[in-house]
Amino acid sequence: MEAVTKFQKDNQSRFLDQLFELLKIPSVSADPNYKNDVIKAAKWLAEDLEKIGAENIEIVKTAGHPIVYADKIIDRALPTIIVYGHYDVQPPDPLDLWHSPPFEPIIKNEKIYARGACDDKGQLFMHLKAFESMVATNSLPCNVKFMLEGEEEVGSENLESFCKSYADKLKGDVILISDTSIIANDVPSVTSGLRGICYMEVEVNGANRDLHSGTYGGAVANPINILCDLIAGMKDENNRITIEGFYDQVIEASAEERIALNKAPFDLEGYQQELGINEVHGEKNYTTLERTSIRPTLDVNGIWGGYIGEGSKTVLPSKANAKISMRLVPNQDPGRIEQLFSDHFTKHTPASVKVKITPHHGGHPVLTPIDSIEYKAAEAAMHTTFGKHPIPQRSGGSIPIVALFKEVLKADSVLLGFGLDTDDIHSPNENFGLFNFYKGIETIPYFYKYYAEMKQA
Ligand code: BES
Ligand code: MN
Ligand code: MN
Repeated sequence: MEAVTKFQKDNQSRFLDQLFELLKIPSVSADPNYKNDVIKAAKWLAEDLEKIGAENIEIVKTAGHPIVYADKIIDRALPTIIVYGHYDVQPPDPLDLWHSPPFEPIIKNEKIYARGACDDKGQLFMHLKAFESMVATNSLPCNVKFMLEGEEEVGSENLESFCKSYADKLKGDVILISDTSIIANDVPSVTSGLRGICYMEVEVNGANRDLHSGTYGGAVANPINILCDLIAGMKDENNRITIEGFYDQVIEASAEERIALNKAPFDLEGYQQELGINEVHGEKNYTTLERTSIRPTLDVNGIWGGYIGEGSKTVLPSKANAKISMRLVPNQDPGRIEQLFSDHFTKHTPASVKVKITPHHGGHPVLTPIDSIEYKAAEAAMHTTFGKHPIPQRSGGSIPIVALFKEVLKADSVLLGFGLDTDDIHSPNENFGLFNFYKGIETIPYFYKYYAEMKQA
């Protein structure tokens, strides 16, 4: 491992320069205007993979954005690690809240600021540089396959068919993903679960046109008022979701699990202060750590309708819209939740308006075993580089493909992330600590080493 460490030290600044190049490509998957930039990022990665010694590199076209595949098979008898990451990023909006342009990376306070710095270009790139370090020093202990996608932030619509058609090529023992967080830089953790997601859009329609709110107000339903009622009605006074049957499939965490979970270091005062809030808010009888991991949620992500321009306009709008997401926990099924949500919404809609419900993406929740070889290898790797045993932590975010990998590729994933929850992913001023970037590059080769050893023991 000394050679790997030395190689990494000697190449530190080049690794960072290269990450900057990648971060400069605005690979926003949601916006068709950036289609060519998404392709550019895929090509850029394929070229780097070529330079660092990967083989069989392909930029696989899909119905949407491409998937980059590459591998290095040193010996078929050895275990194979499949590295997954996504090179697409969230839209940078709102732009005016960025302190520096989102696609012009800069270092400030020992952090890299750019859209995608943490989610997930920075984390994905750690894998390329870790791989490069092992190849360059002749110390790759097993086979590797890379699968880098460009549609994670828009629901990974085409990954399933890719996994099915590439099932043979994608044979491997474990999927390694860095797209999650650790608790703190001095409190390492391995993610042991992710929430699922069910994302819906609703439209409430009233009269066939906007009306004068004096002439008609009071007599004709206001779709915005009705939408607000419907949304408000989906939670009770204890902040429990009132959708009939919503909790039926939820596996309640045992008392022991809850005790263990709440042992993770958490400073409520600091949390509130950092967010600029006076008090946290959530389901009664659960702690903040529980609310963000083992409990499902329902949140409005966006809501619009009526007049929102300068000054005031008296109007009774004809329609209102909202995008609503529900985070799911084991064993909730996104398809079933979609149905329950639609039934609830329809049932509670008064006859004075009509509703249209459109489902967006969904994803299953996952738990990754913490007694498996891959978990133990991840734990040992972090222990080596952080000098501390990592804590298993269930994350509140979603990576829908993890459940898909299990189903299609029959392989478990290990969620070895290096971000921090405060990295502002999806927000203005997304950042990734230099400490975290280099710690990831340092830790990943240990994962390979321990995994290969444990798997063959
Ligand atoms: N990397 C995140 C997921 C994540 C964030 C996991 C924080 C753990 C901690 C991923 O890129 C993401 O944003 N996923 C989406 C889901 C997708 C269907 C758009 C999410 O969680 O909103
Ligand atoms: Mn991500
Ligand atoms: Mn994301």
